[in-house]
Amino acid sequence: MAFPIERPRRLRFSESIRRLVRETHLSPSQFILPLFVCPGDGVRKDIGSMPGHAQLSIDNLVREAEECKSLGLGGIILFGIPAQKDEFATEASAPDGITQRAIRALKAGVPGLLVITDVCNCEYTTHGHCGFVKDGEVDNDVTLGWLANTAVSHAEAGADIVAPSDMMDGRVAAIRIALDSAGHQNTPILSYAAKYASVFYGPFREAAESAPQFGDRRGYQMDPANGREAMREIALDLEEGADLIMVKPAMPYLDVIRDARERFDVPLGAYQVSGEFSMIVAAANNGWLDLDRAILESLTSIRRAGADFILTYFAKQAARLL
Ligand code: PBG
Repeated sequence: MAFPIERPRRLRFSESIRRLVRETHLSPSQFILPLFVCPGDGVRKDIGSMPGHAQLSIDNLVREAEECKSLGLGGIILFGIPAQKDEFATEASAPDGITQRAIRALKAGVPGLLVITDVCNCEYTTHGHCGFVKDGEVDNDVTLGWLANTAVSHAEAGADIVAPSDMMDGRVAAIRIALDSAGHQNTPILSYAAKYASVFYGPFREAAESAPQFGDRRGYQMDPANGREAMREIALDLEEGADLIMVKPAMPYLDVIRDARERFDVPLGAYQVSGEFSMIVAAANNGWLDLDRAILESLTSIRRAGADFILTYFAKQAARLL
């Protein structure tokens, strides 16, 4: 039975019908806002390539987090910018490091707001790579110990979820064992399981001051050409004990999100990264796109592909639009 009996447009004529048959819904609880915390007091250092976003000192971070809570966001993910970088990413796991102090302030000042922490070394190393560099390459197994220590220090400070983003092999298992032996059996791990070596992280590297000083991250992050390999990465992270998984970036990798949704019955996140944000904002600032609609359509597409939750720099704007 086809036209003229079948008329799909019948279900599109009014907003009340469209609403009834809508397949994908957005809610503020699905959005996680990335925030950058830096040393100092009263600091709000704008990030040129990410209009509306800034490095915040802890006092301003807490204020920002209060707003996130009142908007009903799913939570925040925290990136620390240390005062001191060195070859060994010492501050990444320091009990009084910038991230650890920020977590404590958030837990005290904004109880009930979910605090996820990014576990990585690139903001903390002088060379900007995600681990210990030996002969020009990141040494996988030495880096595992650093990551485990950092994750434990975040959990001790009160992080609700730790999220390793470094792409070392075996990091989820190393972190799980370290958390458990430190008494943090109930701290979940959100693994950046399928993280690609993407050009779309460009603005973030300005925001987090984490651009590699030589070479690139293709020796540890995934080749954008590979979809099947993403399933292998996710399967390995789940075997190692990941509780939640993530695909990153989001919009250029909707096929990977969909495949992951079909294969794995665990909570699935996607990261709409800095470059995705900046492209949309730049087009809108030129008058080429309607910002509000671009925000909602992009987030809807990521949810439709299969993501349960989305890390997005649009989290607050999107929550206000709903
Ligand atoms: C740290 C990290 C990066 C991002 C999240 N965690 C940068 C990178 O891998 O170079 C990118 C986030 C974004 O672009 O919004 N390794």
